[in-house]
Amino acid sequence: MRASTGEGKDVTVMNTTTIAAELAKVTDHWTPRIIGQVNDQYVKVAKLLGEFVWHAHENEDELFWVISGRLRIQLEGHDEVVLEPGEFFVVPRGVRHNPIAEEEVELVLIETVTTAHTGDVVVDRTVPIERQLPTS
Ligand code: NI
Repeated sequence: MRASTGEGKDVTVMNTTTIAAELAKVTDHWTPRIIGQVNDQYVKVAKLLGEFVWHAHENEDELFWVISGRLRIQLEGHDEVVLEPGEFFVVPRGVRHNPIAEEEVELVLIETVTTAHTGDVVVDRTVPIERQLPTS
């Protein structure tokens, strides 16, 4: 879709969508899907199941917003955070964290476009940003 600015410049406009429809396209756990961009932040959806990996993002905060399920986030030097549907939490930059989903969790993530989802560690589960871009 296209729209025009006040100066008559053509710009691309995203189609409207729903979080549920985007989550329905996610087939693999721990594989974020980029569904939008706001300035230098990506909006992503993901499904989680099991324990992830301890990691940190040195220069980037990371927002977890739970849609369904119950997400535990272990944090270094802080009590564990438990998120129920509708709740969100921002992991501050530099703080080591480890998400744990004992049942399947569906969530929205908001993170800087440069954020690697496994932060400072690379594991089998690390999905490069190119593979998080939507193909459909
Ligand atoms: Ni993280």
